[in-house]
This record gives sequence, structure tokens and C-alpha cells, in this order.
Amino acid sequence: MFVESLKDRIGSRPVYIWGAGEVGAAAYEGLRALGITPEGFVDTYLRAPLREELRAVAVAYPTDIPANAYVVIAARASVYAIMLELMNLGFGSDRVSSWGGQGEHSLLSDNDKLLLQEVFVSPVCKSIPSNVLTLETSDRCNLLCIMCGYQKLCRHKGLHKGPEPKFDCAPIEPVLKTVKSLVLNIAGEPLLKGAIWDVLDPMEKDGYSNLKSIQFHTNGQLLDENDNIERLAKLPVPLTISFSVDAVNAETYRRIRGADFGRVIGNMKRLLAVFEAAGRKDDNLQINATLFRENIEQFPEFIRMAYDLGFKTVITRPIAYRYENDYSWARLSREGLDYDNDQQALQYYPQLTKRIIEEAKAEAERLGIHLYVDDAFEVSVYSDAEDLPYPMPVGDFKAMTADRKKKGEEASAMAVSRTEGVRIPMKRKCYRPWTDVSIQKDGGVCMCLWLAGKLIGNINDAPFEDAWNSPRAQRIRQDIIDGFLPDECENTVCKYRHESVMAYRLAAKHEL
Ligand SMILES: C[S@@+](CC[C@H](N)C(=O)[O-])C[C@H]1O[C@@H](n2cnc3c(N)ncnc32)[C@H](O)[C@@H]1O
Ligand code: SF4
Ligand code: SF4
Repeated sequence: MFVESLKDRIGSRPVYIWGAGEVGAAAYEGLRALGITPEGFVDTYLRAPLREELRAVAVAYPTDIPANAYVVIAARASVYAIMLELMNLGFGSDRVSSWGGQGEHSLLSDNDKLLLQEVFVSPVCKSIPSNVLTLETSDRCNLLCIMCGYQKLCRHKGLHKGPEPKFDCAPIEPVLKTVKSLVLNIAGEPLLKGAIWDVLDPMEKDGYSNLKSIQFHTNGQLLDENDNIERLAKLPVPLTISFSVDAVNAETYRRIRGADFGRVIGNMKRLLAVFEAAGRKDDNLQINATLFRENIEQFPEFIRMAYDLGFKTVITRPIAYRYENDYSWARLSREGLDYDNDQQALQYYPQLTKRIIEEAKAEAERLGIHLYVDDAFEVSVYSDAEDLPYPMPVGDFKAMTADRKKKGEEASAMAVSRTEGVRIPMKRKCYRPWTDVSIQKDGGVCMCLWLAGKLIGNINDAPFEDAWNSPRAQRIRQDIIDGFLPDECENTVCKYRHESVMAYRLAAKHEL
């Protein structure tokens, strides 16, 4: 029934499938069976389709979808978010379907419908955020990774001492019961003292019925405690778990993460085996590497290690470049590695970074691994590097001089003055301030991962609704409605900021 109506709805339009994974492959075959040959796949990062036989099919970036196209969404968890992206690109409900029919406008809840009326229109939100809820289940950690500013800050504040307070879900219960995706970490280790279970166990009574996805990053060291693996395998919701490993051998792992490489490898192997034995097919199990000068050259090898372990997806991001705060107090030395952001940040090694990322992409393609290269590489490493007023040599970071550091500081100052007092038009509107929310361990509320320091309120001081519609929250939404990048978003590395700033700079260059 759905399939037949889909054929009528599509008519003679070119068809694109949003999602190049397993659901995308099923949609491709299903459409072919209807006599429709899709023009290509769409994805927010250009990757080869997961199935080998579909590798030759084109993959387009969302902004490149032809205006007359019909889009079939083929995703498990993010159907709603993709729908919002499409709305933003001018695709109405008459030109979008979801493979299998779920996610169509007629099937949305009343809250979803209200949200669709409010998004990009109203600075005040009566709807409950219904896409992604991110909770900082723990802000402490069992490790102290050499590059992790969060944990250094946590220790600096003495937070790691004393008992771990439980995450208080009571003030956000309506949001917990509404959102489609739940993310269980921001900074600390979500498996520390079973922190994730403080949130997940009380949800068991409702069968987690609103959730289409549960996600978290973990260092994986504590998986072998508290029956974590077995309990995770029983959750009736698709899981996205990203294991942060960063290294391909015990020595580098010890230098970076200060812990036992064998333990994390053993834990990941056991989790993969238990999940397979449980017949879990809808999870997205990933291994990730946060790259900096110390470990970037191991990255192609990291792809091979991921393949050998049985992972299908690898994620990489560069270390954050120059924290907003002054982290000079937060230096750490271990096993002969003296960590200094000014020596390790990949902004200083753009050619090396590009070469290794290209090598890793080729290796991933060869092995059929989904490699997700974070926007931050393009946004921050490549583009800002081009803006630096001096060329940086590849490698030899030990030779970094005080003079270079000074130039780096001048470049940072320039980055700020360049946009000071200027409103940057948004190339594509961001829907997150209407749909997503993050809650920090101490109750701080913000709209997305990148705005962690730009709080809109605190649920320990006032009800959630007060934060959700606080003056700052309304102003951020109003800026977006008016078509401008909110000030708060200006120094982030998200794709909306990137597209907007790049377009703005290009226009400014043409004016010169
Ligand atoms: C802060 S951790 C929290 C979750 C968990 N403890 C873990 O390590 O996966 C989240 C992610 O941030 C990454 N990360 C740590 N330090 C970073 C830095 N300086 N810049 C960018 N990402 C960083 C970690 O490697 C990890 O993948
Ligand atoms: S395990 Fe995660 S939170 Fe802990 S120190 Fe390492 S990166 Fe930071
Ligand atoms: S930082 Fe980026 S993702 Fe976050 S609200 Fe701003 S534009 Fe949206």
C-alpha cells in the first residue's frame, strides 16, 4: 500500500535516497523493484554506500539535491532530523517520504506537529524539544587523557574528589518521554559508577517506547564491570556506541590515555561477540580516534585495526584548537609526551593532515569501512589554516618556537576581530534551538554540543521551561529566524557556522 502510493507520489521526478547505509540499500532495491532507478544517495558526509554493489551510485551533499527531486529518507533514528533539514532546503511534505512510511507528516505526534509550526517561525517554543536530548550522566572520569581539557578542568575544580552525585532526571521527565534520541555523555565517562543506568533504569517501566536511538561515547575500560555488556545487549533500542581509542598500540595508548590497551581491545571484542550472539542488527558500533600530531600518522593503521576487530564505522575528529578558556595551567606530561595544544593542534600541520586523511579514506574505501571525517577538519583545520598569516611546515613540532606561538596568538586575535560587531547571514538555518537540548551534570542547559559554555538556564534554579524560553534562548532563535548566525555560534566548528562564515568571507573578498 505504502509502496504503491509512493510510486504515484514520485511521478516522474528524479529520486534521491537520503542515507547510504543498510536502510538506504533496502530502499534502493525496493525502488528498483517498482521500476524506479534512484539518481543517487544523499548524505551529510560524502561516503561510499555501505553495500559493495552500490558503490558506483553517486552520493550528493544535501545542498546539491536538485530542486525538482523527490527524496526518500532511509534512516533508522534520524528520520525527523532529516525531515527538518529537507524542510530547510525547501522540500515540502509532498516531495518527501520515509522508506517504510514511518516519519511521514501524517504519523507525527501532536508535539511534533506543533514543533514543525514553530521551527524557524517562533522564538518562543511551546513544543517540547523532541529530537535529541543530551545528558551529561557523569562529568568525571576513570582516565585522564593527555589531550582532554574537560577532565583537566574537572580535576582543576576538584570535581573528581568525593562521591559521584546521581543525575536528577525529575526536572526533565517530559523531555525524556518525548525525544527520539538520547545521548548519554558530554564530557566525562558515562560508564563510571554505572552513570548511564541512573537514567536508563527508570525508563525501563515505559519500555523506552519514545526512543529510536541511545548513543554514547566511552573509553571502554569499564565495560567489563557491573554486567555492562550484558545489560546493554538487553536494551530494546538501537544503540550507537563510539569507543574512543585513538591509538593502534599499547605504547601510544598509554601515552595518550594512560591506560591498558589490552583491556579496551578485549572489552570491545567481547561486546561485539555478545551483541552478535544476541542477534542485535540495528546498532551502530563505532571506534573513534581524536587526532593530533602525536597519533595522526597511525590513522591509516587505525582503519585496518578497526576492520580486523569487526567494526564497520570509524569516526575521526581533530583535537579542539585553542580552548576558549586559558588552559595553560592544564599541561600534562606522561611517558615522555609533554602535551601542549600549540604543538599538537593539526592547524599547524594542514598538509600532513590532508595527506593522512586522504590515505585513510582510500584505506576505508578498500576495506568497506564507513569513515566519518568530522566537519571540524574542514571547518577548522583546513580553512583556518589557510587564513593563518604564515605557512606552517609539516612535522617537526618539537621545533616550535616562541615566535611561531606569538604568530598563532595574533592569528587567533585576527579571527575574532574579523567578525566583531558584524552579523553574518546564515546560509542554511539551524533547527537545533527548536528540537535539541543538552543538560549538564550541574543542571546547566544549552542548545547543542558547541554551545556548552553558552547556557540558556539551569534546571536546578528554575523549571526547564524557563531555560527553554529564556531571553537568551529566544534571542538565539530570533537571530536564526532573521537569517543571521547567532553570536553564540560564531566560534564553533559546526557545519552551519562553517557554511555561513565561508560564504560571508567569500562575499567580502569579492567586495574588496
Ligand atoms: C570527552 S570524551 C567523553 C566520553 C568518554 N570519556 C570517551 O573518552 O569517549 C568524548 C570525546 O571527546 C574526545 N576528546 C577528548 N579530548 C579532546 C580534545 N582536546 N579535542 C577534541 N576531542 C577530544 C574524546 O577522545 C572522546 O572521543
Ligand atoms: S576517557 Fe574521555 S572524558 Fe576521560 S579523560 Fe579520556 S577523553 Fe576525557
Ligand atoms: S552552534 Fe551550530 S549547531 Fe549549535 S545552535 Fe549554533 S548553528 Fe546550530
